[in-house]
Amino acid sequence: MVDKEHLPQHVGIIMDGNGRWAKKRGLPRTEGHRRGAEVFRTISTYASDIGVPYLTFYAFSTENWKRPQQEIDVIMDLFRDFLHEAEQRQAENETRRFCFRFIGDLSVLPEDIRALADWMEKHNPENGRTTVNVAVNYGGRSELTHAFRTLLSRVQSGELTEPDVTEDAIAQALYTAGQPDPDLIIRPSGEYRLSNFLTWQSAYSEFWFSDILWPDFTTADFDRALEDFARRSRRFGGI
Ligand code: IPE
Ligand code: IPE
Ligand code: MG
Repeated sequence: MVDKEHLPQHVGIIMDGNGRWAKKRGLPRTEGHRRGAEVFRTISTYASDIGVPYLTFYAFSTENWKRPQQEIDVIMDLFRDFLHEAEQRQAENETRRFCFRFIGDLSVLPEDIRALADWMEKHNPENGRTTVNVAVNYGGRSELTHAFRTLLSRVQSGELTEPDVTEDAIAQALYTAGQPDPDLIIRPSGEYRLSNFLTWQSAYSEFWFSDILWPDFTTADFDRALEDFARRSRRFGGI
């Protein structure tokens, strides 16, 4: 039962545990990523159905390049498949519910992936029900570095002065400009850390941790996270 009154406006999800899920079953890690990509589809659709307006899914971090090339290639292929599928749906006007945003430094990704991601962002519906940020080659520190460079060059060009560099100006220079900060961040897989996810934006987020591995994560688990969130008392430093 979803408490509409206390529904988070923005939920961030760290899709972790794919490798361990596969290992437990004697499967290659990449099978875990395949299964994880399916769960991404299920949870994004469900969250949209119940009316969460913003979602951010952590798909690939700036640190994940340390992994074996073969695993990286499979993750990129899964991202490519998702983009093709979403492109087709947008083009056919089948579903206009999602506005997709790709957050992270996409400049180093294969050319065809960049082109597809660009196309998707340009063909988002005007009044999409749910904005889905897919974080690929994303790192909170890299995002902040990028934002500081943008602001510095605007100061150097005389467009901004030093007092214009406010918290708001920094927030507007992030990939998530114009979006509310995540109210709730979900991390499955039994790890209790952010791993460079939404560093600036998570200052007042509520966290929900669970031992479930991402490929096993269900809509019922998502409901449980929302129920817990609805019971939290958020004070933002007040009383
Ligand atoms: C998350 O699952 C997916 C990515 C980081 C790309 P992992 O691959 O990190 O799975 P574990 O943590 O090794 O189980
Ligand atoms: C975080 O998971 C990144 C993504 C889920 C995309 P990791 O598996 O990379 O995080 P660590 O290494 O356990 O901190
Ligand atoms: Mg992991």
